[in-house]
Amino acid sequence: MKLIFLGPPGAGKGTIASKICENLGIPHISTGDLFRKAIKNQTELGKKVQQIIESGDLVPDALTVALVKERLNNPDVEKGYILDGFPRTIGQADSLSEFSSIDAVINFTITDDQVIKRLAGRRLCKNCGAGYHVDTVKPKEEGICDKCGGELIIRPDDAPEAIKNRLAVYYESTEPLIDYYRQKGILNDVDGSPEVAAVVKDTETTISAI
Ligand code: AP5
Repeated sequence: MKLIFLGPPGAGKGTIASKICENLGIPHISTGDLFRKAIKNQTELGKKVQQIIESGDLVPDALTVALVKERLNNPDVEKGYILDGFPRTIGQADSLSEFSSIDAVINFTITDDQVIKRLAGRRLCKNCGAGYHVDTVKPKEEGICDKCGGELIIRPDDAPEAIKNRLAVYYESTEPLIDYYRQKGILNDVDGSPEVAAVVKDTETTISAI
């Protein structure tokens, strides 16, 4: 099953994708995670995109499409995958359709107020990238990742100004993808606002009906 997870920043795409991918045994491909890894390793790509990402703007389509195209050449995608955070523009969606055929798009809905609460309280493992929240998705030990024992940090683009910009960028460039995929007949809405377990269950029910 080849799936796209769509939705505003903080809708829970990464949290839900990591659980569904574990259950389905398919890779979770997050462009945000790939870019953050490149920044951490200070690769050529990482140096190019660091400032763009920290401000909440989008990385240019050409760079992003090339990254995803290369990732989809990996043999682990044979049984399918979840694309989390890609595509994010109509141009990226058009490019994707030239090298992959998507079975379904899950669009997570959530209010702007919830986005702000979720991003302001998000914590990320510096080592493995696992996501937490200070109120809703707490680690067993404060500040420490349950999975690898790494230190939990705040993402630079979760600063208030960057969150504001990311929401504006979402409405301008990414929200139009809802109609784009609805017109193709493959869009499925899932309410992203309940607790994690309920959203996972609704998403699994939606996927099993596809
Ligand atoms: P990316 O990492 O993709 O950021 P995003 O889309 O803004 O998404 P987030 O990771 O912020 O949120 P999410 O929906 O995954 O929510 P999460 O599960 O973490 O991209 C970062 C940057 O990279 C972009 O701004 C851009 O610069 C660049 N980039 C990436 N892809 C690109 C592309 N295709 N083109 C161009 N540039 C690109 O959850 C958020 C918080 O809420 C967490 O704390 C979590 O624990 C908590 N939470 C989650 N679900 C629930 C729930 N149901 N109830 C309560 N709390 C919850």
